[in-house]
Amino acid sequence: MSHKDLSFDTRAIHVGEGAEFLEGSKNEVVAPIYLSSTYARKEVKNPGFYQYSRSQNPTRFALEERYASLEGTTYGLGFASGLAAEATILFALLKPGDHVIGFDDLYGGTKRLFHQWEEKYGITVSLVDAAVPKNVEDAILPQTKLIWLESPSNPLLKVCDIKAIANIAHKHQLLVIVDNTFLSPYFQKPAALGADIVVHSITKYIAGHSDVIGGAIMLNDKSLYDKIKFCQNSLGVVPSPFDCYLVLRGLKTLSMRMEKHQSNALAVATYLENHPKVARVYFPGLKSHPQYEIGLRQASGFGGMISFEVVGGEKEAVQFLESLKLFTLAESLGGVESLIEHPALMTHSSITAKERELAGIKDSLIRVSIGVEDQKDLIADLEQAFGMI
Ligand SMILES: Cc1ncc(COP(=O)(O)O)c(C=O)c1O
Repeated sequence: MSHKDLSFDTRAIHVGEGAEFLEGSKNEVVAPIYLSSTYARKEVKNPGFYQYSRSQNPTRFALEERYASLEGTTYGLGFASGLAAEATILFALLKPGDHVIGFDDLYGGTKRLFHQWEEKYGITVSLVDAAVPKNVEDAILPQTKLIWLESPSNPLLKVCDIKAIANIAHKHQLLVIVDNTFLSPYFQKPAALGADIVVHSITKYIAGHSDVIGGAIMLNDKSLYDKIKFCQNSLGVVPSPFDCYLVLRGLKTLSMRMEKHQSNALAVATYLENHPKVARVYFPGLKSHPQYEIGLRQASGFGGMISFEVVGGEKEAVQFLESLKLFTLAESLGGVESLIEHPALMTHSSITAKERELAGIKDSLIRVSIGVEDQKDLIADLEQAFGMI
């Protein structure tokens, strides 16, 4: 049976592992962790396929096959982190003088990477509110090469119309990159909506247990794949075999985790929306979200990320965060445990205060990654912390 005939949940468990996994397999049910950094050759002039683990590693190959299968693309590539994957795209596809258009609410580390490339390698970047596709079209210059999106974005959970922007991009021969970290391929498949390259921080929902740093790129075009794969090897930004094993393992429960993250998030977002100490809630699954309809059309779910503003400012936000007992005050997201943070002081502190103001990231803003605990316990913890401000 071809993998393509199997449903998402089945592929998340089987693709890449099992008897057909590897030449010389001993019918392992779980992919072995191949730690060897190098491979012996029988003849000097005949290296064979497996030569050196940065270039070929069977555990990584198993994972890359699964990445492609779940994202619905021809190719998948594994990286040492989400930012390693992003930097590899820039390295593989840009040259001095090129221009990039990015969503104004991208993850802070992505913006920091763009700034480094502006300063050191002579590219220019325009950040626009891509929730309005015309803003993207208006920003196109003769030297534009890439359009870089997240949907929903980080931390304001803005949704952009991926198909509409891909149509604009392709009319101008531009490439569209979509960071699909927040929804995972379980809820959204940007390549099917027209994205040329899908990028992930695997660290988040895909690995799912806050114990791996990883990244991935999924795509269909052979020539783009060849360029990026060449740089994956030449830069050496590969994940370790042990991390690949952990991700293969984490992926087996992706669909169940995503459903629970989402149902918990909807309950918490509804609770927050009705709370007198909350000024505003950002969650794409609420009907009050400005791009609710677009989210509904292009994804099969809204995910488990919520941001909200407390009434007051930094003082109230910090007091609230430090009063929580069950939510862990930590950066990152997408793990089974609920994590909470202050974007202006934590994840997005690498961008300037001016940029944060322009992007609408206020000092009263809090970002929550809703875990898979019991929602009653989560809401009780939020309630007691609101009582402290
Ligand atoms: C949306 C998004 N993309 C990329 C990254 C970077 O990934 P990593 O931390 O795995 O390098 C992050 C990290 O928080 C993220 O939230």
